[in-house]
Amino acid sequence: MISKKMKQALNDQINKEMYSAYLYLAMSADTTHRGLDGFANWFMVQYQEEMEHATRIYDYINDQGGKVELQAIEQPPTTFKDPLTMFKQTLEHEQFITKSINDLVDLAKKENDHATEIFLQWFVTEQIEEEANDNEIIDKLEIVGNKGNGLYMIDRELGQRTFVSELDEE
Ligand code: FEO
Repeated sequence: MISKKMKQALNDQINKEMYSAYLYLAMSADTTHRGLDGFANWFMVQYQEEMEHATRIYDYINDQGGKVELQAIEQPPTTFKDPLTMFKQTLEHEQFITKSINDLVDLAKKENDHATEIFLQWFVTEQIEEEANDNEIIDKLEIVGNKGNGLYMIDRELGQRTFVSELDEE
C-alpha cells in the first residue's frame, strides 16, 4: 500500500517519463530530418527506454493497489540547434529527472515507505548511467567540434545502439 501523496507523486513521475520519451522522439525526428541516422537511432532507443520507465512506474502503482491517472503531455520543441546542443539539453533534462527521483526517495524515506524506496533504487542507478552516457557523448562532440568527419564517425557509433527491454527479463 502506498499513501495518497506517494501515489500522486508517482503519477507525476509517469508524466515526466512520458515527456522524456516525447522529447527524445522529437530529437529523433529532427536528426532523421538532418540525415543523421545514427543520432536518430540513439534518440529512438532513448525514447523506447523512457516509455519503459513510465511502464515500470505504471506497473508499480497498480501492484500497490493505487490508480494510475494519466496527465496531458507537454509539447516538446520541434526543432533543435545542433547535435552538441541537443546532448547538452538531454543532460540538463536528465539532471532534472535525477532531482525528481531523489525527491521521490526523500518522500519514501519520510513516509517510512520501504517498498517504494526499494522500487526507486533501480531509477537512482539508472540515472547515474543516463547522465554518464550523455556526458560521454558531449565530450566526444566537443573533441570533434560537432561537425565534419568526426560528426560522421560519432553518427556511425550512435547507430549501433539497440534497445533491450529490461522488463521482459524481470
Ligand atoms: Fe527515465 Fe531518462 O529518465
